[in-house]
Amino acid sequence: MAERETWATRTGFILAAVGSAVGLGNIWRFPFVTGEGGGAAFLLVYLLFILVVGFPAILVEFVVGRHTERNPVGALIELGGGAWKFIGAIFIMTGFAILSYYSVVAGWFIRYFVEGFRDSYASQLAGYEDIAAEAGEPSAAIMFGELSTGLDAFFFHTLFMALTIGIVALGIRRGIELAVKVMVPAIILLLVGMAVWAFTLPESGAGYSYYLSPDFAVIADNWVELLPAAAGQAFFTLSLGMGVMITYASYLGEDRNLSKDGATIIGFDTGIAFLTGLVVFPIFFSAGIQEPGDGGAGAIFVSMTEAFATVPGGHILGVLFFGTVAIAALSSAISLLEVVTAYVIDEKGVERWKAALGMGGVIYLLGVPVTYDLIFLDMLDGLVEGILLVFGATMLMILVGWIAPKFAVQELEKGIGDLGGLGTAWIWAVRVPLLLVLVVTLVLGVLGYYEFLTGTDPDQLYGWLQDQGYL
Ligand code: TRP
Repeated sequence: MAERETWATRTGFILAAVGSAVGLGNIWRFPFVTGEGGGAAFLLVYLLFILVVGFPAILVEFVVGRHTERNPVGALIELGGGAWKFIGAIFIMTGFAILSYYSVVAGWFIRYFVEGFRDSYASQLAGYEDIAAEAGEPSAAIMFGELSTGLDAFFFHTLFMALTIGIVALGIRRGIELAVKVMVPAIILLLVGMAVWAFTLPESGAGYSYYLSPDFAVIADNWVELLPAAAGQAFFTLSLGMGVMITYASYLGEDRNLSKDGATIIGFDTGIAFLTGLVVFPIFFSAGIQEPGDGGAGAIFVSMTEAFATVPGGHILGVLFFGTVAIAALSSAISLLEVVTAYVIDEKGVERWKAALGMGGVIYLLGVPVTYDLIFLDMLDGLVEGILLVFGATMLMILVGWIAPKFAVQELEKGIGDLGGLGTAWIWAVRVPLLLVLVVTLVLGVLGYYEFLTGTDPDQLYGWLQDQGYL
């Protein structure tokens, strides 16, 4: 086996970790789950979860990775013993599941990017006006309906997966670090610009109050749905719960201050998601959409095409926006395929390019049904964020908190210095309160997913099967 690669530059690790965290989770997923969760109520629970659970959890993954210098499966076995390979196997499967639909969604962004070159967004929307009037929906929603499944979606899913495989096959040094340096500043700049523009819209006030002023009674009444949804989004957006951060920290050749790095990553990630909300909700309310939860997976596309159809220079902005998000998605997708690939390389001794191509190929096939009907997106996404990521995080807390706590504090102290009481506080937080929160969240998540599988609405699995005439 060749010598293990390490990051090329001092900042390489942090760039790659930010690149993994910032992606479709922030820009595509965050606004629509916030809408489904009722806006501000969701935002508050989500921010609390990031701070209280997300930060300690990212440190858990970092110490496991840097200490073992292994892929997640190898790392779990080294720390916990042979039985943990089954948990590791679940991590790998989670990576498969996420990337399969992630690639389809990223493909939509490329599609909208390309569309911006063909014609202005305004004239695109005009093309859907007749159908829209008949259906009583905004043209942008009809456009999304047309583009999100079928041959279009299939083609761009193929393209995106090919790019991801290509970069991972080349190895970590050449691929990942570079892409991130351009992408993160570009995204922030674009979002700030769009947020300023959204501020000038007639109904921006309604958007802000929906997004920013939480009603505590709503939180109290809905915590059974809010908690698992916020937890799932928090883990998803921070790339936690399946070993991405374990893998990235395993390539650290030196002892960095992990808590500082963790805070930086979380700061960028949360800031970008929050900014996206400041763009999307004012646009929604100004476009007359009163139920921001109804947009579902199309929310960002609908609101942004509406916006780019009206702003001066929307053409160029649209191309920039959809293009940058596609790059952000690529740097996240790379992290997902990297985990799976690192596992096959480390444990099976397969060559990098073969591992990337083989695993990527299977993931690609798994994503194809999503391009046929979005019920498969809900099926995969619900399983991932409702169950698998929370399960993975729970297992990591048990491993580090109860089975191998000694190494954890020592490892965290490398690069920071003596933590004193803070190290103990961290371990005890992981051991009891955080573990309890995660177990409750997991139970709620499983119940919620069961409801999705058995529910009779057409957007739930059983109902969909009936609707399609399969049952
Ligand atoms: N965090 C990424 C995003 O927000 C997606 C992602 C990459 C991810 N790697 C992950 C999610 C691992 C969960 C686990 O787009």
